[in-house]
Amino acid sequence: MTKTAKTRAPRSWARAAAFIGMALATGFAAAARGPADVDDARIADNARTGTQWPSNGLDYAGTRFSRLARINGGNVGKLGLAWSYDLGSSRGVEATPIVVGGVMYVTGPWAVVHAIDARSGKALWTFDPKTPRTVGWKACCDVVNRGVAVYKGKVYVGTLDAHLIALDAATGARLWEVDTRSDAARDVTITSAPYVVHDKVIIGNGGGEYGTRGYVTAYDAQSGAQAWRWFVTPGDPSKPFEDESQAVAAQTWDPASKYWANGGGGNVWNTMAIDPELNLVYFGTGQPGPWSRSKRGTFGDALYTSSIVALHVDTGKYAWHYQESPSDASDLDSTMDLILADVKLDGQKRKVILHAPKNGFFYVLDRRTGQFISARNYTEQTWAAAIDPNGRPILSRDGVSPDKPFDAIPGPFGGHNWQAMSYSPSTGLAYIPTQHVPLELVADENWGGQDTYRNGGPMQPNGGNGWNTAMQVNPVPPKSKAHGELVAWDPVRQKESWKVDLGAPWNGGTLVTAGGLVFQGTADGYLKAYDATSGRKLWDVAVGGGVIAPPVTYELDGKQYVSVAVGWGGVYGLSTRHTEYRDPGRVFTFVVGGHATMPEFKPYALEPLLSGVKYDPKDVPDGTALYVSNCVFCHGVPGVDKGGAIVNLGYVKREAIEHLDQSIFNGPMVDRGMPDFTGKFTPEQVEKLKAFIQGVPDSIRPK
Ligand code: HEC
Repeated sequence: MTKTAKTRAPRSWARAAAFIGMALATGFAAAARGPADVDDARIADNARTGTQWPSNGLDYAGTRFSRLARINGGNVGKLGLAWSYDLGSSRGVEATPIVVGGVMYVTGPWAVVHAIDARSGKALWTFDPKTPRTVGWKACCDVVNRGVAVYKGKVYVGTLDAHLIALDAATGARLWEVDTRSDAARDVTITSAPYVVHDKVIIGNGGGEYGTRGYVTAYDAQSGAQAWRWFVTPGDPSKPFEDESQAVAAQTWDPASKYWANGGGGNVWNTMAIDPELNLVYFGTGQPGPWSRSKRGTFGDALYTSSIVALHVDTGKYAWHYQESPSDASDLDSTMDLILADVKLDGQKRKVILHAPKNGFFYVLDRRTGQFISARNYTEQTWAAAIDPNGRPILSRDGVSPDKPFDAIPGPFGGHNWQAMSYSPSTGLAYIPTQHVPLELVADENWGGQDTYRNGGPMQPNGGNGWNTAMQVNPVPPKSKAHGELVAWDPVRQKESWKVDLGAPWNGGTLVTAGGLVFQGTADGYLKAYDATSGRKLWDVAVGGGVIAPPVTYELDGKQYVSVAVGWGGVYGLSTRHTEYRDPGRVFTFVVGGHATMPEFKPYALEPLLSGVKYDPKDVPDGTALYVSNCVFCHGVPGVDKGGAIVNLGYVKREAIEHLDQSIFNGPMVDRGMPDFTGKFTPEQVEKLKAFIQGVPDSIRPK
């Protein structure tokens, strides 16, 4: 017992006595619940009222459909700021806040947890797992985190170095911590929120670009002891398989490609859904590693990558899978959020899963068996002519070309990415943040297996920082322009109901309410509300930088609040942006009649287009290759892009490039996530990098 607990004993005895009196009056179970005492029953109960936001997708079904209706078409125009909270961060914010017992638990970049009084916006406590910042460039897609889980008085968070930590929900004190890595030599990361059911914390991981083998692990929520682990891709076939499902998967990989040494990917890096009645946990799996199909060997579907998988909650045993992109060749993850719904199909009520993965098709499956029901493309796509009645895609040429660059539509950014969709049983519509971000892909002929990439395959983006995709990106410029939409999709008729053109891609996830409203934050820096039936815009408010995280809603003291965590970034937002603001991460909370003052937005400060750095034009081609494999992913193309969460090197002070060695060696900016390239480049190579960084601005400067 701690000192404070001892000194408080008499008071808590008095409180306990009062509790017993209350328990007699109200029933013990209800009275015994503390503020963060979320459990399975409470998550299920809340799905009927929506007063709290106790689980990442609001409910186990992941609907993000709130029963709250106090805010509706009649008063949404009167929404005003209740409070804003500064997360003190500069990188992407992707978290869904959890709100229980009047407390909001939200994460910023680097998995820093903030507990906030949901009424006032005042900080209660913060917890920084102090992940070594050197992990920053071992994460493909910004140093983001998608939120916590709260269960029986504990808060669970996964860190960028793939640790799972349990905190005391009241104080933020660390209770236990486990390293979830199965192989510490590989670059495994966690950016997803944990899920808790039946006293088990379930967590996946990322790293599919880095030669890792994806898996999902369940830990005892109380002690942190490992309960089970299931691998997505098979291991070394000369050793015993972990279970029968691995032996089956091994039949679908080419042994000549040494898939086990190359990792195989399939990482479960985003959300899950749970059906407590069927006792199944569902998740989508990532793309196979490496991306290039021709480098992965020529036969087989590469199970269980780019699939939906169902496991038994208590044992982690495989129940079923359905593969959406067999032997995918364009980084088509299936990790986008799954929504469990009960819909009427041909007059029959069916328990289904709704899914809009990166590959551009909207899928409806039977969630008891995994049986395919229907699929139709929700956005532009060119890789499949159709999905046949058995659920197998009929491939079209564009998606399979191994050797010449092909226009990947959709490609690595996806027709829909991790930004959550929502589903309203009232309108029968799913609300999907869709996008088109064109990329040209081609197999990297220099790639020769897991270890060659570490030397930085020339022209392989991020190859120098550990990427193992066996593909080059944009060896020729893409043929189309990026854009984004909000699409309302009818899963029964497999048909678009309405669509809003948002201009920019990389918009936030959606929330839908019984008040008939869809809320979404946008890349151009607004939180917007739409009529859920017609798509008519009813309200918006500027929030500074671009929004990528999904809004949530909750009720306190008879008032309905809408909150969203803002912080531009994520993989697309590292080098690109669609606002003029570079603000710290912030949580904004709105209420009808709110009149708190908006913080001032900070304009993005750019130096003039870089000029005057001396270089030899002959060095530009070699400099291009070095820059692409080491710098472009974070810094964009100098002078062409304008910078996003990370500055563009075409708009920095001339001295920063003239003395490039001072930035890239000995790690002066490691704390901010800039790699330390000590020992990686010769002085000649540094000159070549400078030639590219100055050469491109010179080539685009108006004469
Ligand atoms: C993983 C992402 C990442 C990669 C890869 C990366 N950087 Fe950086 N770099 C950063 C961050 C973060 C900063 C800090 C400034 C900021 O936050 O915008 C930075 C800062 C810099 C600066 C200082 C800019 C200024 O404002 O003065 C230079 C110069 C630079 N980087 C050069 C490079 C070069 C050259 C490469 C490739 C060899 C490279 N960086 C690769 C993330 C990255």
